[in-house]
Amino acid sequence: MQLAGRITLVTGGGSGLGLAAATALTDRGARVVIADLPTERAQEAAAAIGARFVAADILDEEQLAVALDAIEEAGPLRAVVHTAGRGGDRLRILDRDGGPAPMASFEEVVRLNLFGTYNVLRLCAARMAGNEELVDGERGAFVLTASVAAFDGQIGQTSYAASKAAVHGITLVAARDLASWAIRVNTIAPGLFDTPMLARLRQDIREGLAESVPFPRRLGAPAEFGSLAVNMIENGYLNGETVRLDGSIRMAPR
Ligand SMILES: NC(=O)c1ccc[n+]([C@@H]2O[C@H](COP(=O)([O-])OP(=O)(O)OC[C@H]3O[C@@H](n4cnc5c(N)ncnc54)[C@H](O)[C@@H]3O)[C@@H](O)[C@H]2O)c1
Repeated sequence: MQLAGRITLVTGGGSGLGLAAATALTDRGARVVIADLPTERAQEAAAAIGARFVAADILDEEQLAVALDAIEEAGPLRAVVHTAGRGGDRLRILDRDGGPAPMASFEEVVRLNLFGTYNVLRLCAARMAGNEELVDGERGAFVLTASVAAFDGQIGQTSYAASKAAVHGITLVAARDLASWAIRVNTIAPGLFDTPMLARLRQDIREGLAESVPFPRRLGAPAEFGSLAVNMIENGYLNGETVRLDGSIRMAPR
């Protein structure tokens, strides 16, 4: 789908990979709406790239509905890049004394990364299904965000790996479910990207991570994520696919 003038939604677009996707979309002439938690940082980021900001927690059906109503006042929603999510809890199944990890933490990660993804998918797809006019033969397109942890999760990543493997798992199902509505669904599984999520790590750890990427031997640039997200929307034959974007890294156990 050609993006010029199309209304696109980027969840989690106030930071990191989402902000990079929003920037790439605006560069293509799309009209971008960023949905993120109501922080000044996210609002300023949206304003800086000429995107509109709507405050919404992706887990909250009502907030998303209000956001989607506001978006649709401008026209039909055509594409969604869903990046809102979080890292894992770094808890092993058993602690040092052999005690079980807390359930609440596992639930929290899965709730945001998986339930959040499904909530965005179902509510946005329902809006796209109402698009009477097809653009380049389709009603809309989704880009979801998994992680290489979906395939090679590390020690302490049970909750994160489970949530991201599930995002990969629903990609083909979603593409099949929504095929009759002429809506495509693809997923990016990023490796190690230089975003605020990784900036929280110590510099020597960040450098070690960059060194572990076979080629190119560096962290991914968020703009590289943005460029693939744009291509996934523009390339009408790509559907039901998860693409690793990772410099060919395969994560070691730790
Ligand atoms: N950075 C990496 O190396 C990397 C690697 C693999 C996967 N990912 C995935 O990419 C996505 C984006 O990561 P990032 O590095 O850009 O992180 P980030 O922390 O920079 O951005 C995440 C954004 O999501 C928003 N968000 C969180 N909870 C939300 C909610 N309930 N409702 C609405 N917005 C919410 C945050 O406010 C933030 O703006 C995540 O799903 C993450 O798991 C990142």
